Amino acid sequence: TAPKTVEINGKSYTTDPWFNVSSTVLSLTSRKLHLQKDHPVAITRKIIESVFPAPTYKYYNEFDPVVSTFENFDSLGFPPDHPGRARSDTYYINKDTLLRTHTSAHEAELFRARASGGYLISADVYRRDEVDRSHYPVFHQMEGARVWDRTKVPNGDLAAAVLADLARLPTHNMKVEDPNPPFHPDRNPLQTAHHTPEEAAAIAAHLKRSLELMVNEIFTRAKAATDPNQTPESASSEPLRVRWVEAYFPFTSPSWELEVFYQGDWLEVLGCGVSQQSLHINAGVPSQSGWAFGIGLERIAMLLFQIPDIRLFWSRDERFLSQFRGVEDRLDQMKAFVPFSKYPACYKDVSFWLRGTSAAGGNTGRGVGAVDWHGNDLMEVVRDVAGDTVEDVRVVDEFTHPKTGRRSMCYRINYRSLERTLTNVETNEMHDRVTKALVEKLGVEIR
Ligand code: PHE
Repeated sequence: TAPKTVEINGKSYTTDPWFNVSSTVLSLTSRKLHLQKDHPVAITRKIIESVFPAPTYKYYNEFDPVVSTFENFDSLGFPPDHPGRARSDTYYINKDTLLRTHTSAHEAELFRARASGGYLISADVYRRDEVDRSHYPVFHQMEGARVWDRTKVPNGDLAAAVLADLARLPTHNMKVEDPNPPFHPDRNPLQTAHHTPEEAAAIAAHLKRSLELMVNEIFTRAKAATDPNQTPESASSEPLRVRWVEAYFPFTSPSWELEVFYQGDWLEVLGCGVSQQSLHINAGVPSQSGWAFGIGLERIAMLLFQIPDIRLFWSRDERFLSQFRGVEDRLDQMKAFVPFSKYPACYKDVSFWLRGTSAAGGNTGRGVGAVDWHGNDLMEVVRDVAGDTVEDVRVVDEFTHPKTGRRSMCYRINYRSLERTLTNVETNEMHDRVTKALVEKLGVEIR
C-alpha cells in the first residue's frame, strides 16, 4: 500500500494512485553521487566540465530530482501518448509530479533565465528498466546547451557569430565519419521556419566540434588509465574514430547520436541536436537559438575506470571508494579499477501464470495482467526485495496455453553479492520472499 505522503530532500509530496516509487529508489534520492568528492561519477563530471570552461559555460549541479510531468515531457514537445510517459517506464509521485527521467527536464527553465552562452547540468535521473550489469533505476546524466541571441550578435548575423565562436575552439586529429546526409527533409529536418540553412549548419558545426573535443578528452584519458605504458600525450598520437548517426528527439532537429570506436566496438555515447525553436519561443526568448546534448555519466565512468558493474557506484565499501581517492584533484593519476574478488553467482527460476486472462476472468487490479504485462513491474518488485544482491533478471521461457489461453512466464533471477559469498540457504530465503512479493504485488499464480 502506497504512503499518503513522501519526503524527498526535505520536501513533502502528496501521492495519488499514480504513485509507483519503491522505497529503495526513494532512499537513493539523497545520495547525489555526482557531488561526492572523488566518486567516479563526480570525477567524470569534472572531466567533461573541463572541456566546457567557465565563464562561457555555467554549471548547475543542485537541481532537485522532483519535477513536474510538464517540465519532464510537455515542455520538451513529447506527445501525450509518448511511451516514455507510461507508469511502467517512469517513477511518478502523483499524476503531475515525477522523478525526472532526464536532465532535459531543466532546459526550459534555463532558457527562460535568458542566460546567453552555455550551461551544463549534472543530476541524478530515474527510469524503471531492465535488471542487468549496465542498468540501474537511478543514474546520472549531464546536459549541455549553448545559446546565441540574434539580437545581441554583431550586425544581427547569427551564422557569422556562431562560426566566429567555432573558430576559437581547439582543433583535433580525430577521424570523424558522417555517413548520413547532415540534414534529411523527412527524417532529420532543418527548422526552415526559424533558421536559414547557413544558421543551422553553423550551429551544427559548433555542436559537433564541441562534442568531438569532449569525447576526445574522455577517451584519451580512458586509454591512458587502462594502458599503464601510455600517458595522455602518447595515447593521443593514435587518433580516435567517431561517427555521427541520425537520431530523433522531440526537442531537437536535426538530431544526432555520437558513436565512438573503442576496444573493437562502436559505442553510442550521447544524443544531441539543434534545439527546437519552440522551446526558446515558449521560454519568452524567440531571438535565441542553439544546441543541446545529453550524456550518461555511469556509462562513461565504466569505460574510464573499467568498472564492470553499475551497482558498484552505490557501494559504500572502502575497497571501492578508496581506489578513487585523490583522483579528482590529480586527474593524471587516474588508474583502472581493480575488481575485488568476484563472489559466486546463484540463480533461481520462478515460473508463474499471469492473471487477468479470459479463462481466469477480468482483471480489475492495477493494470497488470496477461493482456497488460510489463516486465519492468517485475523488475521493480525483485529490486525492492533483493536490493543490490540481484545482478540480472531475464525471461527464460514464455508460452500461452493453447486451450485456456492462459499465459505463463519463467524468469531467471541471478543473485550475487558484490561483497561476499551468499549461502544457498539465504539465497533460497531471499528467492522465497521475491516469489511471495510477486504473488502479492502482481497477482501472479506460481506454477
Ligand atoms: N535527454 C535525452 C535522453 O535522455 C538526451 C538529449 C539531450 C538529446 C539533449 C538531445 C538533446 O536520451
